[in-house]
Amino acid sequence: MMTPEHITNTVNAVYSERARNGSDTVYSTTVASAVGYTPDQLASIPTSSNLGLSCGNPVAIAGLRPGETVLDLGCGGGLDVFLAADQVGLTGIAIGLDGSEDMVDLARRNASAKGVKAPHVAFAQASLTTELPIESSSVDCILSNCVLNLLPESGKASILKEAHRVLKPEGRIHLSDIVAIKDIPDEIRKDLSLYVNCVSGAISKAQYEDLLHEAGFQEFSLVDTGVDLDAYYLYSPQQQQQQSCCAPKLPALGGAEAKPSFKANDFVGAFLGLLKYLVSSSTNVTASYEIYAQKSPSPSEIISSTVLKNWWDAYPTVKSSPEAITAEQVAALIRDPTKNPKDFVVVDVRRNDHAGGHVRGSSQCPAQTFYDDALSYFERFKDSERVIFYCQSSNGRGPRCAGWYQDYLDSVSHASSKAYVLSGGIKGWMAKYRDQTDLIDYD
Ligand SMILES: C[S@@+](CC[C@H](N)C(=O)[O-])C[C@H]1O[C@@H](n2cnc3c(N)ncnc32)[C@H](O)[C@@H]1O
Repeated sequence: MMTPEHITNTVNAVYSERARNGSDTVYSTTVASAVGYTPDQLASIPTSSNLGLSCGNPVAIAGLRPGETVLDLGCGGGLDVFLAADQVGLTGIAIGLDGSEDMVDLARRNASAKGVKAPHVAFAQASLTTELPIESSSVDCILSNCVLNLLPESGKASILKEAHRVLKPEGRIHLSDIVAIKDIPDEIRKDLSLYVNCVSGAISKAQYEDLLHEAGFQEFSLVDTGVDLDAYYLYSPQQQQQQSCCAPKLPALGGAEAKPSFKANDFVGAFLGLLKYLVSSSTNVTASYEIYAQKSPSPSEIISSTVLKNWWDAYPTVKSSPEAITAEQVAALIRDPTKNPKDFVVVDVRRNDHAGGHVRGSSQCPAQTFYDDALSYFERFKDSERVIFYCQSSNGRGPRCAGWYQDYLDSVSHASSKAYVLSGGIKGWMAKYRDQTDLIDYD
């Protein structure tokens, strides 16, 4: 039996593999051109952001305007996010969510190559089948390209509800997806391999309309794009053996439903055969659709100015666990006349909430831009044996920035310097030393 969890895990494993292995550029370009991307669009994005996994070009029909906030669900290597970012301009925001850590890593590398960064362009790892890490009523336009068909049935319903929640009143959603245009036979429905290849999970137009309705969308249209799905297979016989529509190289599938001695060629043959049959005979069962829906205005909804619920979701998860250092130890360092910046530096990562003082001699390095500026901080602090971070209570931003800094030190094997977290943060510091002016700087 294909449980929702099994579907999600398998889809994640397969697309993660594609993110790690990349894609043949000629193949990806052929697919992208077939589904509507122009040569100019493809030239404007990092090559590895197009993995040949799309089934339409939702940005082309989204009518994006400068200053808008756009969210791409299942962003892959980031191609639609980059195209959207160019259209919304520097005053706009384009965010991509994907469940695969490898995809998000790839998208972030692509962002770096394109020279764009948070908060203008951000990628975060998030499951589309649970609550999105996005503020309510914060998004003007949602995009998604060949993703919803991959979600388990319950996930298709919940993501549309989440989409409705995060859209601003009168916000819109433009999806490109595979839709079932005939009953899909049971043997195909139950085939997990065909599921990850965007066939078995396709639902009918009527089912899609019901889900949109249940999610709260009142106005919508589903349009058959007429994209020739066969185009994916007309490229080269050799490529046909390796890759397929919206689908990664074949997974080493595990689990009860998967064929234990799974052979890639059997699968590709079956899938290609199936798709050719579907496309070129009168019994086609899937087609590429563009789905458009708009949220009705609701004056009572508060429009938030932030989009990602947690700003740190735009950055990699911290791997290291920097040690704590007590206020007494730091005070002793500050008061010791033999100590200098080669021995220690103190870093305040608060941004707007530092009224009331800092630990004496602190450098101010706001957490929200810390990761992007890590290299310049390294240049500043690399000769210090101890780099001591704090925020308000040293529960969130302090440990996070210390972790990112330590991760950076580890990545460049710089062992002569180490990150620490000041226990209790500035709150604890002030509670102990409020009257001791040699330990406090005021703004
Ligand atoms: C067919 S690819 C399309 C990628 C991208 N939209 C494009 O056009 O290149 C599907 C993407 O959806 C992501 N995805 C699938 N199921 C997901 C889920 N349950 N949660 C989050 N992401 C998911 C995959 O990791 C993959 O990157």
